[in-house]
Amino acid sequence: MPTIPTEPAIQVAGLRKSYRSRSGDQLVLDDVDLVVPAGTVTALLGANGAGKTTTVGVLSTLLAPDAGTVRVAGHDVVREADAVRASIGVTGQVTAVDELLTGAENLRLMVRLAHLGRAEGRERVAELLERFALTDAADKPVSTYSGGMRRKLDLAMTLVSAPAVVFLDEPTTGLDPRSRRTLWDEVRALVAAGTTILLTTQYLEEADQLADQVAVLHGGRVVAQGTPDELKRVHDAGTLDDVFLALTEPAAATPAETTTTDQEAVR
Ligand SMILES: Nc1ncnc2c1ncn2[C@@H]1O[C@H](COP(=O)(O)OP(=O)(O)OP(=O)(O)O)[C@@H](O)[C@H]1O
Ligand SMILES: [Mg+2]
Repeated sequence: MPTIPTEPAIQVAGLRKSYRSRSGDQLVLDDVDLVVPAGTVTALLGANGAGKTTTVGVLSTLLAPDAGTVRVAGHDVVREADAVRASIGVTGQVTAVDELLTGAENLRLMVRLAHLGRAEGRERVAELLERFALTDAADKPVSTYSGGMRRKLDLAMTLVSAPAVVFLDEPTTGLDPRSRRTLWDEVRALVAAGTTILLTTQYLEEADQLADQVAVLHGGRVVAQGTPDELKRVHDAGTLDDVFLALTEPAAATPAETTTTDQEAVR
């Protein structure tokens, strides 16, 4: 049977984004190019303030791009924002759970937003509570949850609608080692089922373990993109930490030069 070529789940070309303020514009994303094949995990790395959350914001239709084309799940984020929203799930850097509601109530809210039937919704809520070890805490208000429990609930809420593309902005920050492993297992299970994941992380070992592909954001551009092994080889580095430090040094080569070198080298 002939295979039908599938469009990458995420395609970003020439993305530009500034924040406007009274003291002037701040250019955060200068010229970002990024391709994420369907059914893979990409880790977006970058120093604090590099623009990771801004990128996730544009890709998830929460922020409007100034220039460039961004397609997610086969749709343009500007012209077909509703279609993009229907295909994605987002877990933000700051948790979006309602403190006054219980964990189960938060999940039921998402069931209604996702227009799931009653029986299906009940099943999904029970399954997600179980998967994230929140069953015992299900009927307690979120205000009594620990930081890690909130994070897990947030991710469970993202998954209620079974989205094709999932954005996770620093999903494991503040999680204990066991919870972090649980989350890695979840990410792997989602990808095995065909979901595409773009995650940001400051834990480079996590990117190494989880990601099919790593993209490093620096100076408003993706200065390197490849598998963890490719990037280590190109930079003659033992760990992704070393790759990251070499690429994001303030005095490193200009982003444009680095992009060309790295992308050609990993091809
Ligand atoms: N709403 C906003 N208004 C103005 N400037 C902003 C806004 N959000 C972010 N910025 C600025 O844009 C830059 C990139 O921020 P962003 O949050 O995208 O970085 P990040 O890579 O996610 O950083 P971190 O690792 O700390 O989460 C920073 O200089 C930040 O101050
Ligand atoms: Mg951020």
